[in-house]
Amino acid sequence: MKNTNLLITGGAGYIGSHIVEQLINSKNNIIIIDNLVTGYKRLINKRAKFIKADLKNKKKLKKIIFKNKIDTIIHLAAYLNVSEAERNKKKYYKNNIIGTKNLIEACKDSEVKNIIFSSSCSIYGNIIGSVSEVKKPNPMGYYAFTKYKGESLIKKYSREIGYNYAILRYFNVAGASPSNKIGQIEKSHGQLFKNISIQALKKNPVIRIYGKNYNTKDGTCIRDFIHVSDLADIHVKCVDFLFKKKKSITLNCGYGKGYSVQDIVNIFKKIKKNCKVLYEKRRPGDIAQVYANTKKFEKTLKWKPKYNNIKNILLSSIKWEKKLNTN
Ligand SMILES: NC(=O)c1ccc[n+]([C@@H]2O[C@H](COP(=O)([O-])OP(=O)(O)OC[C@H]3O[C@@H](n4cnc5c(N)ncnc54)[C@H](O)[C@@H]3O)[C@@H](O)[C@H]2O)c1
Repeated sequence: MKNTNLLITGGAGYIGSHIVEQLINSKNNIIIIDNLVTGYKRLINKRAKFIKADLKNKKKLKKIIFKNKIDTIIHLAAYLNVSEAERNKKKYYKNNIIGTKNLIEACKDSEVKNIIFSSSCSIYGNIIGSVSEVKKPNPMGYYAFTKYKGESLIKKYSREIGYNYAILRYFNVAGASPSNKIGQIEKSHGQLFKNISIQALKKNPVIRIYGKNYNTKDGTCIRDFIHVSDLADIHVKCVDFLFKKKKSITLNCGYGKGYSVQDIVNIFKKIKKNCKVLYEKRRPGDIAQVYANTKKFEKTLKWKPKYNNIKNILLSSIKWEKKLNTN
């Protein structure tokens, strides 16, 4: 990979720290900005330059981009709790939409040539079967709406400001780095693998499943879970793609296989036989099912996953949770 000055927003978070872990050995100059609202000092790679900054401060963003001669941005910083977004739309509007707009506007007249944007499969809404990138977005919750607006802003300004973009629509991200040095710390996002991992350390684990009357094979939601280190690797490939091909792209990032929440809980039940399962009401903002059509993605990046065994994804997540609780 070419030597670049890379800015990673949200680099002290779960996915951001895994991207930094994979990029740090290259010759790139890596600058992380994060306000540490759901990010952690423990996840910040010591070999990267860290600046505590908020997306709401456009002036500071501009200064950082110009001073460090940033040419590529991976923009992850956002709030992502689907239910909270329904209750507090203003908070999500300011952070996810205005924050993204500030970052883009701060790039004006700079050396930024490439922006990678963390979008989400939730922008598709409810889908029967797999979904490809050509499907018209139909965001159903407010979090999804903020991601859809983020995509629109990235596209809208690309000509005017003069950058190419890669919009990456992540499916459900899970697991922890094989190094076991980093993993997910933040608990507030209400994510299945994190919740199970927390329970895995308890003597009498209790798993809550939200909604069992969805129109799916077993009534629970269906998702496409991708290992965080595979997702991080996709970002490395994308930086390369943007430099070599000099064109913009939108890609689904999943494995193309849907597992129900019940499927995942059943895997866990084999690991922890005494686990109790409680069925709760549906959560606001959750969609019934979504999994990726990965054809475009495989063809474009010529990429193959390394960590796509679902049981191993769960085990890596539990292993990290154990480490987190011992030191
Ligand atoms: N985790 C998933 O399954 C998933 C799925 C689809 C999309 N995404 C997207 O991926 C991105 C990263 O998610 P994550 O799972 O690593 O979550 P995370 O909470 O661990 O990371 C987000 C990071 O952004 C920082 N941040 C938030 N608002 C900020 C602001 N205004 N200024 C500066 N920093 C700010 C947080 O402190 C945190 O470190 C998000 O954009 C999210 O919407 C995640």
